[in-house]
Amino acid sequence: MLTDRIRERLWEITAEYYPKNDQAHGRSHIERVLKNAVEIAKREGADLEVVEVAAILHDMFESKETHSNIEGFRHEVQGALEARRILATLGFDEQFVEAVSHCIEAHRKRTGPEPRTIEAKCLFDGDKLDCIGAIGVLRSAFVSFDHGQELYKEERDLADYKRRNIRPDGTIIDFSLHSSNLEYELSLKEVAGQMCTETGKRLAKERAAFMNEFYSRLEKEMNGIQ
Ligand SMILES: [Fe+2]
Ligand SMILES: [Fe+2]
Repeated sequence: MLTDRIRERLWEITAEYYPKNDQAHGRSHIERVLKNAVEIAKREGADLEVVEVAAILHDMFESKETHSNIEGFRHEVQGALEARRILATLGFDEQFVEAVSHCIEAHRKRTGPEPRTIEAKCLFDGDKLDCIGAIGVLRSAFVSFDHGQELYKEERDLADYKRRNIRPDGTIIDFSLHSSNLEYELSLKEVAGQMCTETGKRLAKERAAFMNEFYSRLEKEMNGIQ
């Protein structure tokens, strides 16, 4: 049973993992994903407590992965292990811990297993909604500035760029060579088509259309007055 006291403890415990000044992956992302995932879960008839706890814990090692760029370090794997440890100390039963752990290990689009349960699908979709639309554009720009990337990078041969800077599992080798528009072309453009729930698909469609319009316009403006 998820009481207010346990909710409070979860936020206290996770505070050290989510940097306050990281607008792309810090606490503000977690709060938006929580809202998205719980709303999807209500509409899809999923277990709301599993989805809520998984949303709060899902990105504990995201910042470490993107800033250390250690090959083989996966924030969904480390996050699922850490969640198991935290939830066991808070007295959650094994079935609940297992359900939350699966949501976390399956929340990524680039790596990890496919979401098998409806709860994992709700977290996946809630998280992906935060990658697209107006918030997706802003988050992508924050990540880009954070890594000192160029404002816009023109790559005529995307397949060649992928060979040079994207690992086979989809993770980025050198973040400084990447950019917001390349991230859109190589990853964010596909997100709406990857949604798992009917609710997620519906919500993603409209956000994806806005984002597509934004990057098309950006391309035109980067090329000067048309
Ligand atoms: Fe993540
Ligand atoms: Fe996330």
